[in-house]
Amino acid sequence: MPWKYKDFADIPNNKDRVYLVAESSDKAIIGGCMLTNIAGEGDISNVAVDARYRGQHIARELLKNLIELGKQRYAMEAFTLEVRSKNEPAKALYLGLGFEIAGVRRGFYDKPKDDAIIMWLYTDK
Ligand SMILES: CC(C)(COP(=O)(O)OP(=O)(O)OC[C@H]1O[C@@H](n2cnc3c(N)ncnc32)[C@H](O)[C@@H]1OP(=O)(O)O)[C@@H](O)C(=O)NCCC(=O)NCCS
Repeated sequence: MPWKYKDFADIPNNKDRVYLVAESSDKAIIGGCMLTNIAGEGDISNVAVDARYRGQHIARELLKNLIELGKQRYAMEAFTLEVRSKNEPAKALYLGLGFEIAGVRRGFYDKPKDDAIIMWLYTDK
């Protein structure tokens, strides 16, 4: 679901949230991802790269940096995220970073209806 301006504006006031962005050389935001600290575990969401900049490993670099930030700032060792079952690029991205499939939430997404694949990464393994 698209976020409103206020959703983004509130992030710096939340000590349990980090939103990392990638910028183009002219300082436009071309990608981003968010980390939420939930009782010492990292919940990753809002992973997206501007369609004009995809396929350049921007998402991979953003996520590697976000995970490193989570380890340093919150001492996180476990990270989780949800992805639409039909989103092959995103699934390949996460599996390539070492995330493993832990379960499925049937009918979790709307517009269009889809299952959610739950993934976890344990960095202490
Ligand atoms: C998913 C998304 C964030 C990937 O961003 P990206 O910057 O293009 O991804 P990267 O270039 O970092 O790709 C890293 C890896 O992801 C996988 N991947 C990325 N795009 C892919 C595609 N179109 N098809 C298959 N695998 C793909 C590959 O394994 C790739 O590694 P490789 O290039 O060595 O093969 C981007 O396609 C996007 O914004 N999609 C729309 C929003 C979305 O679906 N977000 C995820 C929500 S859970």
